[in-house]
Amino acid sequence: MNSQSWRTETTAIAMVVGMFLSAWVAAQDAEYVGQQKCKMCHNKPTTGEQWNKWKQTKHAEAYKALLTDPAKEYAKKAGLQKPPEESPECLRCHVTAVDAKTGAFHPQLPKEESIQCESCHGPGSKHLEYGKKMLLVKGAPPSDVPTNILKPDEKTCLTCHNNESPAWKPDKYTLEDGSKAGFDFKQALAQVVHLNPEKKHEPAPAATGKK
Ligand code: HEC
Ligand code: HEC
Ligand code: HEC
Ligand code: HEC
Repeated sequence: MNSQSWRTETTAIAMVVGMFLSAWVAAQDAEYVGQQKCKMCHNKPTTGEQWNKWKQTKHAEAYKALLTDPAKEYAKKAGLQKPPEESPECLRCHVTAVDAKTGAFHPQLPKEESIQCESCHGPGSKHLEYGKKMLLVKGAPPSDVPTNILKPDEKTCLTCHNNESPAWKPDKYTLEDGSKAGFDFKQALAQVVHLNPEKKHEPAPAATGKK
């Protein structure tokens, strides 16, 4: 290959990669910002102190679970080469926005911060723009402006609470009819719920998953 055609080809490849990347970024829609940003606006007792409530859940400590003896046992059973706290096979459900292939951590989200707001609510940068605009609005935010943040539902939980987890116990929850289940949305949500008491809510938990 002469140097001229090499250059042409490289330019063509760079253009295609560039187009692909910009489409990917646009499709991604928003960036991860980290829980400290959410805390600024969502930790008032009058509106439900979501941050404090999250901090008290096991989600906020999920990385630490990978440092325990049971974790080492699970990793051994699964035949993992690396310790659990370095294995993408474990990290993908125990730390927000880990690269599921390499186990690389997201630069904005320290591993010790475990399963943060954005594991359930999705990347928050667009919502931050919304929030900042709302700080300038007097009274309750207008309901016709999109909040640009995900409302999680049962499906969100099931991405991690499923039988791919080595800690999965199919009989963990007892349902109303007496049967057993490894996960029950209603009972599990009651342990991590952080609703805003100033807002009106549907009687059943939001099950739309829409933005
Ligand atoms: C600059 C302030 C601000 C920041 C920072 C902020 N929010 Fe919000 N957020 C708001 C306002 C204002 C509302 C609308 C009123 C309400 O529902 O509390 C809101 C609403 C929400 C809702 C309800 C959305 C809906 O459609 O009902 C969720 C969920 C949420 N925020 C999550 C987050 C998460 C996660 C973060 C961090 C990534 C975050 N917020 C950061 C201001 C902010
Ligand atoms: C599919 C998501 C998922 C994967 C993959 C996963 N976990 Fe978990 N892990 C969970 C969930 C969810 C829980 C909470 C318990 C439950 O309800 O299943 C949990 C709980 C735990 C616990 C605490 C409970 C206990 O049994 O001691 C340890 C330790 C743990 N996981 C270690 C690991 C290790 C080690 C790996 C990798 C070999 C791993 N996990 C992979 C989702 C996952
Ligand atoms: C384990 C998943 C999960 C995590 C982690 C999580 N949330 Fe939520 N969040 C939910 C669910 C589910 C709802 C809707 C609950 C419902 O409708 O009953 C919700 C609702 C909200 C709402 C709306 C409250 C209302 O009354 O409308 C806000 C605001 C919010 N979360 C902020 C946060 C912030 C801030 C964090 C991190 C500090 C966080 N959430 C972490 C699952 C999560
Ligand atoms: C990103 C993965 C992930 C998502 C999404 C997720 N969880 Fe979890 N959850 C975990 C892990 C991992 C643990 C265990 C942490 C530990 O033991 O240190 C856990 C623990 C819990 C616990 C503590 C009791 C137990 O089973 O050990 C409850 C309750 C819970 N989750 C509810 C929910 C609900 C409700 C949702 C959806 C609104 C949800 N989770 C979404 C990963 C997740």
